[in-house]
Amino acid sequence: MKKNGYFITFEGPEGSGKSTQIRMLADALLKLGVRCLITREPGGTDFAEKLRALIKNYPGPETIHPETELLLIEAARAQHVAEKILPALAEGKVVLCDRFTDSSSAYQGAARGLGLEAVARLNAFATRGRLPDVTILLDLPPQRGFARTRKRQETQGEFDRFEVEDLEFHRQVRQAFLALAAAEPERFLVADADREQESVHQELLAKLTARQDFLRFQAERIGK
Ligand code: TMP
Repeated sequence: MKKNGYFITFEGPEGSGKSTQIRMLADALLKLGVRCLITREPGGTDFAEKLRALIKNYPGPETIHPETELLLIEAARAQHVAEKILPALAEGKVVLCDRFTDSSSAYQGAARGLGLEAVARLNAFATRGRLPDVTILLDLPPQRGFARTRKRQETQGEFDRFEVEDLEFHRQVRQAFLALAAAEPERFLVADADREQESVHQELLAKLTARQDFLRFQAERIGK
């Protein structure tokens, strides 16, 4: 039988604690005997990471237009999906991905104004139709996320092309994420990220490991 892994994506605003939650979940799943591949978008492969640097911090004089930005993100995604995500899932691994297609819907489709339909078509093309099994949305008011990223920026340097956007832009991103989650309640696990990381983690772990599809995935693994 063809092995099939389990694909988990993490979404949310800047400063919502995605990387911390990904690490905590990977550690917890390892204790259950499940090894995870951790990756991110834009990026995740050598070529896609080079695109990431341009997408986030293009140093030149031109304005990067929303359409250009979206196509670069989808190009990075196509490479990442074909080169890394699909092969890992075919080996039966759990893949934890920091941002994926819903970020394109929220940032480019909603906040940059390109429209959800255009983005959905390109998402489907770039991913060859592979949807996440679960998407974890770490929800946080943009002001709170800002406060957390500002702290990081003070120690690490400049803002990227998304962090410089104003509060209204980030409000639209948040509303779009919440609307996507409301439209697909069976795919999304939404957690309030404005609290202790440990308590967010415990809630996510409990909800994930109670899902029928995750239990089925685990049972199939053990059966092999
Ligand atoms: P981060 O990985 O540090 O969160 O940075 C990635 C940035 O790229 C973040 O500001 C959101 C943005 N982004 C999009 O605008 N669209 C996308 O599809 C993805 C994956 C990321």
